[in-house]
Amino acid sequence: MSLADDLRPRRKVLLASDRQDGSQELAQILSVVGDVSIVPTAGLPDHPQNQFNGVVVDIDLRSTAAVQLVRRKLTGKAYENLPRLFVLSGSLHHGATQAWALGATDTIQRPFDASSIQKRLRAVLPDGDEDEREAKREALNNGVSAAHKVMVKIFSKLPFGNPLTLQDVMEAEGPILKAIKRTSIKDWLITVGRHHNHTYRHCLFVTGFAVAFAQHLGMREEDQRRLARAGLLHDVGKAFIPLSILDKPGQLDDAEMAAIRKHTRLGHDALVAQGGYPREMLDVVLHHHELLDGSGYPDGLHGDQIADIVRMMTIVDIYSALVEERAYKRAFSRIEAFSIMEGMGGKLDKHLVQAFRPVGMGS
Ligand SMILES: [Fe+2]
Ligand SMILES: [Fe+2]
Repeated sequence: MSLADDLRPRRKVLLASDRQDGSQELAQILSVVGDVSIVPTAGLPDHPQNQFNGVVVDIDLRSTAAVQLVRRKLTGKAYENLPRLFVLSGSLHHGATQAWALGATDTIQRPFDASSIQKRLRAVLPDGDEDEREAKREALNNGVSAAHKVMVKIFSKLPFGNPLTLQDVMEAEGPILKAIKRTSIKDWLITVGRHHNHTYRHCLFVTGFAVAFAQHLGMREEDQRRLARAGLLHDVGKAFIPLSILDKPGQLDDAEMAAIRKHTRLGHDALVAQGGYPREMLDVVLHHHELLDGSGYPDGLHGDQIADIVRMMTIVDIYSALVEERAYKRAFSRIEAFSIMEGMGGKLDKHLVQAFRPVGMGS
C-alpha cells in the first residue's frame, strides 16, 4: 500500500537552467526529492527565500555572460542563506572554480547518477519538516501493516484452524493508536482505502474510525486500545462466510442476507472456542448489529442491554459501510452518511452520533 499524498516530500527546488533542453533530465531526478521550478538564468527571482529551499544551477560555466548573470543574483543579500548546487560538465577544473566562487554548497556532475544527486540534494537543502514527515510516514506504515497482519490472521488463517489469540490482536493496538495520533484519520483511510479486498478494507476503516473516535473523546490509552481491538475483531465472523456471498458484486438476496447475518454468532463462537477473550470483546462481536429500538440482530436487544462500547462500534460500523464504495453501491458523502444515520432515529445513540460527527466529517 502506498502513502497518503500529503505525506510525500514537499521540498521546493529552484532550478536555473540555460540549457537547450531546459535541464529536463535533471528536473526529473530532482522531482523525487522536491517540487522543481525551472527558470532561465535571467529569470531567477529577486526574493527566493520564502518560496524555495535551495537552488540548483545548471548553466554553461564557461560562458562569462551566463556566469555574470547568475553571480549578480547569487551574491546578493536575498540569496545569502540559500544553499546552491552547481552542475559541472565533465571534469572542467575551471567550472568547479567558478562554482565555488559563486558560493556552491556542493557540485554534481554529468552524466547524472540519480540516486547520488538525490542524496546530495537531501543533504544540502534543508527541509525542517522532512524528519517529521518521515516519522509520520513510518508511524502510519507501522500501524497499517500491524492492522493488516491481524486481518490476514482473521481472514486467511482462522477459517483453516489457525488460532487467533488475543495477543495477536493486542500487538497491533499500539502501532495503530500511534499511526492515527501522529497522522490523521484521513491519512489512515487514504492508505487502507487502497486495499483491494473490501472486507479487509471495511475492518481497517472501522478500526481507524473507532480509534479516531476514542482519541477525539480524549479517552485514556487503555480505552483507545479497547476500541482498536473492537474494530479489528468486530467482523471476525465474516471469515466463516463464503466468499461467493461476501464478494458478491451485487445486492444480496434474502437467503444470502440471512447467511451473512450469521457472522456475529459465528465470530462470537469462534472466539469463545479460542478462549482468552474478554467478555466485552465477545459482546462487540456478537452485538454490533443490535439497535437501540430492538430491531437489530441477532438477539433483538434493547437500549440499556447494549453496552457503550457496542453502541460506539455500531455507529462507526454503519458510518464506514456508508462511506465505503462497494460493488453494488457508491460511496455516500460524509454529509449523506450523517443524514442517513440521523434518519435512523431511535435506533442509534443520538448523543454518540453527534459526538462522532467531527471525526466522520474530518475524514
Ligand atoms: Fe458486522
Ligand atoms: Fe462491520
